[in-house]
Amino acid sequence: MTIPEGLQRILATANDVVVLTGAGISAESGIPTFRGEDGLWSKLKPEELASFDAFLSNPELVSEWYQHRRHITRESKPNAAHTALVEMEKYFRRFTVVTQNVDNLHRRAGSKNIAELHGNIERNYCLGCRKRYDGADFDANGSFRCSKCGGLIRPDIVWFGEMLPADQWDVAETAAATADVMFVVGTSAVVYPAAELPVTVRRSGGKIVEVNIEETPLTGFADFSLQGSASNVLSEIIDKIKELRGVAKDTE
Ligand code: APR
Repeated sequence: MTIPEGLQRILATANDVVVLTGAGISAESGIPTFRGEDGLWSKLKPEELASFDAFLSNPELVSEWYQHRRHITRESKPNAAHTALVEMEKYFRRFTVVTQNVDNLHRRAGSKNIAELHGNIERNYCLGCRKRYDGADFDANGSFRCSKCGGLIRPDIVWFGEMLPADQWDVAETAAATADVMFVVGTSAVVYPAAELPVTVRRSGGKIVEVNIEETPLTGFADFSLQGSASNVLSEIIDKIKELRGVAKDTE
């Protein structure tokens, strides 16, 4: 893949960079995406598994589904795309990873400045007393009831119809409003308010680079659309950054 001249100039001169990631960045780690022919939502109904009502009406089913997804994410490893973002962080004044993913892979890869818009599958809390059960397991024989107050324990995930965590959204929006460039990696760009962030970047004069294996509703809006897998494209991007910018800032 050739990196366009215009994008090379941005890679050479940008100071503040934000990356918006979706399920596609973790696809090569073996974690299923949501949409597309073999996505989760082509087999399961989100309203039956990823909503507060679904949880209240069947806490066992929902908790076991998240436990199943936790097993998958724990078996997975960050891939070259996650690692490329950890490398990229060293070359810019400000570098923020805004993720819609709950799989904890950016954190495990070593990214430092992360806004988790939709929560994190490794975090849970009691609905009654908010006692935390982070990293806990809720296998079929596990209890979904709080040991302190007997309340229901829920995953710290943003379900459909729920508000995003305000502090995470603030980080994401501030990063977008001050970014010279936003990389949008592996997202279908159809779920709001995350899908609004590229508009915030553009409104503040920043450029949009989309990285995806196929076109999305964002493709026509992006300044650059790099078609390919996240691991291949981001590996080429970080190699080009090293060529253009020399020594990483933390080794100067
Ligand atoms: N490299 C780059 N992009 C990829 C790859 C890959 N290897 N594999 C798949 N993709 C792209 C797909 O083309 C698609 O555009 O990743 C995108 C995945 O889209 P979705 O499955 O819709 O996932 P996402 O955009 O993260 O969904 C947003 O919806 O269900 C909710 O809360 C959930 O955070 C999720 C949100």
